[in-house]
Amino acid sequence: MGTNRKVVLARRPQGLPTDSDFRIEEETVGEVAAGHVRVAVEHLSIDAFIRTVLEESSYHPSVAIGETVTAFGVGRVVESQAPELAVGDAVRGPVLAQTLATLPARYVERVDAERAPLTAYLGVLGLTSGVTAYVGIRDVAAVRPGETVVVSGAAGGVGSMAGQIARIDGARVIGIAGGAHKAKHLVEELGFDAVVDYKREDVAARLRELAPEGIDVFFDNVGGELLDVVLDQIRVGARVVICGAISQYDGDVSKGVRGPALYLRLAERNARMEGFAVNACPPEQLAKAEAALAGWLARGEVRLHEHVEQGLEHFADALGVLFTGRNLGKLLLAV
Ligand SMILES: NC(=O)c1ccc[n+]([C@@H]2O[C@H](COP(=O)([O-])OP(=O)(O)OC[C@H]3O[C@@H](n4cnc5c(N)ncnc54)[C@H](OP(=O)(O)O)[C@@H]3O)[C@@H](O)[C@H]2O)c1
Repeated sequence: MGTNRKVVLARRPQGLPTDSDFRIEEETVGEVAAGHVRVAVEHLSIDAFIRTVLEESSYHPSVAIGETVTAFGVGRVVESQAPELAVGDAVRGPVLAQTLATLPARYVERVDAERAPLTAYLGVLGLTSGVTAYVGIRDVAAVRPGETVVVSGAAGGVGSMAGQIARIDGARVIGIAGGAHKAKHLVEELGFDAVVDYKREDVAARLRELAPEGIDVFFDNVGGELLDVVLDQIRVGARVVICGAISQYDGDVSKGVRGPALYLRLAERNARMEGFAVNACPPEQLAKAEAALAGWLARGEVRLHEHVEQGLEHFADALGVLFTGRNLGKLLLAV
């Protein structure tokens, strides 16, 4: 028994989400049914896809008005009616934006809190950050030593990890991110070779200086105009990985987004552009990615800064942080 606080969708946002798009509701929770567990949620992963599920139609299941907003999170089991999970177990899963999640035990996964801090299971080891970056760099781009890799959204959860994995694979890595502090962090803390500050610099000119022979791999998190800028500078045989297009998420993406005008560069340069959805990858592929990431994390070969916002009531603000680029590294909300 106890009280759950949850973020429900009050109306569909127009552009950047605001407080009035959501409502905090409180409810007394009842008995836990057979096969279910109750989880005291500690941290939520604030992911770009959350903005897209607030629209009436979306690739991931849309949130209805009055429903609790979708989110992944980590926490501890506080009640269990399932033999596979005990009170005190640390778990992660689709807990939604709330403080007490009551859900079928099979929906969550036990994680080892001795191996890594719980938040790492959303960040370095998380499906929507480290694992996404691994799949994009290793399985889609198949980065080779000596190649020049450009990563957009480079100082975020996925981008920070994608750049580090490409470095591990022997590539030269150029990040694109907004702000001098982000550029400094990527070069000095994460080992990126160079960073273009797209808010202050001419990206096309800087990329030409940094990669005069062209770009072998573009790992794109941003889309829109930036995709064209980089497409114009790809080399023969390049791979353009469409991970996301955060610059386009302020409306209903299912109705179409600003696509690349320079896509013929793919034909001219015998290159390919390929997207992927991490949630559609088979479990073995995800497990392989997480095992590699866990090894690098344990040996100090990768790191991911965590930006933690405080309080469930600041859910809209936290989404605003992501969409205005005020996060460095993985964005989390401590509930
Ligand atoms: N394909 C998949 O399966 C999959 C899975 C997970 C995530 N993703 C994608 O990965 C990308 C990154 O997600 P994340 O959760 O790791 O977020 P994140 O990179 O931690 O945060 C988003 C960053 O994007 C940049 N940004 C925001 N609005 C922008 C705009 N209008 N133009 C340019 N840059 C903008 C900001 O950095 P700056 O300060 O640099 O602007 C911000 O910090 C998203 O596109 C997401 O959809 C894809």
